[in-house]
Amino acid sequence: MNKPDQHIFVCASFRASGGDTKGVCQKKGSVDFLPYIENEILDRGMAAMVSSCGCLKLCDNGPVMIVYPQNYWYGNVDSEEKIDSILDALEEGTAAGEYLLA
Ligand code: FES
Repeated sequence: MNKPDQHIFVCASFRASGGDTKGVCQKKGSVDFLPYIENEILDRGMAAMVSSCGCLKLCDNGPVMIVYPQNYWYGNVDSEEKIDSILDALEEGTAAGEYLLA
């Protein structure tokens, strides 16, 4: 297995305490973006991978997406256009500054 250059985590609002998912990200359709991101990674030939993850504790900024090891934290990622900008920037080795959280 080759380790990815970037690992994108999309908040799916799971709670560490278990139970039903709650939170802004999944209510705003964050999980629905996973196939789109996966397909974009493949189409672009990026050495990246995408996974869903639990609540990132930034619910007011949902949907939240983070990229490691770059440590980019993005908020309000609620459209394919924003995802495209984020992936474009990653390919260029930078962050999509307009969507970064602090
Ligand atoms: S539900 Fe996504 S950050 Fe909390």
